[in-house]
Order: sequence, then structure tokens, then C-alpha cells
Amino acid sequence: MTGSYRTEVLISAEQIQARIAEIGKAIASQHTGKRLICIGVLKGSFMFLADLVRAIPLPELEVDFIGVSSYQGTESTGVVRITHDLARSVEGEDVLLVEDIVDTGLTVRYLLDNLATRHPRSLKVAALLEKPARARVAVPIDFKGFTIEDRFVVGYGLDHDGRLRNLPHVALLHR
Ligand code: IMP
Repeated sequence: MTGSYRTEVLISAEQIQARIAEIGKAIASQHTGKRLICIGVLKGSFMFLADLVRAIPLPELEVDFIGVSSYQGTESTGVVRITHDLARSVEGEDVLLVEDIVDTGLTVRYLLDNLATRHPRSLKVAALLEKPARARVAVPIDFKGFTIEDRFVVGYGLDHDGRLRNLPHVALLHR
């Protein structure tokens, strides 16, 4: 039980950390000797970003955040709006967009198109989770944690109406 919700572990904290170690190594090996700007998509990616950057041992790694309008409840409004912009220019930089989950794909599609207009040298996507059954637009995910079924999940940064982000694992939400 988590408050008035019942949650069930879907992906354990240990499974998440093991996968992040693998992804971090892959990202580091592709960016050896280069600067990498990791951009977390607020708010859901904060935990994944924090663990992921610790698994990427590059001395020239930088972190920034971009905020987009999020879901009301469990359904996508389809509306994507920037609520918090980057603190720095990414022109000529190698950029890694770090997202919690690719659901319909609309958010990442919008952010990739938006960031491309700022002329980064390269632009890649890391997503902890993907729900392919819900895809409305195709987006490339260069570094993916886990593929999940069409179920609403919470925890490890993902929320339900602002709550349950603090779970150390990814959980199914039963109501
Ligand atoms: P998309 O634009 O439909 O791909 O949705 C992306 C955003 O929707 C994510 O960054 C999450 O904030 C939110 N979202 C999608 N599915 C879930 C879920 O199962 N649990 C919590 N948030 C979700």
C-alpha cells in the first residue's frame, strides 16, 4: 500500500541500477574525449538522470534541464509546451536528452524538433521506459532501459498527480 493507492513492483531498484550501469557504459564509450550535455526532461526524469550521469564517467559531462507541460491524471492531453528552458546554448554540442518514459512519443518528438533548431552537433535520446503499444509518433531511442506493456506506472520519478515519484522502483498503480 502507498497511501490510498496499491502499488506493485514492476521493475526493482536493483534491476534499474543494473540496466543503468550498462547504458552508462555504452553512452561513455560513444563520447570518449568529448563534452556531453545531458538534458533532463522535468520533472519525471530527475531520478533517472541523477543515477545515469553517475554511471557515465566522462570528465566533461554537463547537466541541464528542460521542462514541459505534463499529464493531468493518466491521460495525455497531447499538448506539449516548454515551461522551463535550458540555461545554456547547445549549439555545436553533443546532446543527450534524458526522458523517463516514451509513451505516445509526442513529448520527445516535440523536444527533438525544438532542440534541432538550436543546432547541436549531435542529438540522442536516453529513455528509462518505452510503451510501444501507445506510440502515436515514431521516435528514435538511442539508449533504452526497459520496454513495458500498456500499463500506468509510477515511481522512480514517475508520478500520479504529482505523487509517488519517490518510490525507488517502478511500480504498477492499482486503483
Ligand atoms: P508522451 O508525450 O505521451 O510520450 O508522454 C511522455 C510523458 O508522459 C512522460 O514524460 C511522463 O511524464 C508521462 N507519462 C506517460 N506514461 C506515464 C506513466 O505510465 N506513468 C507516469 N507518467 C507517464
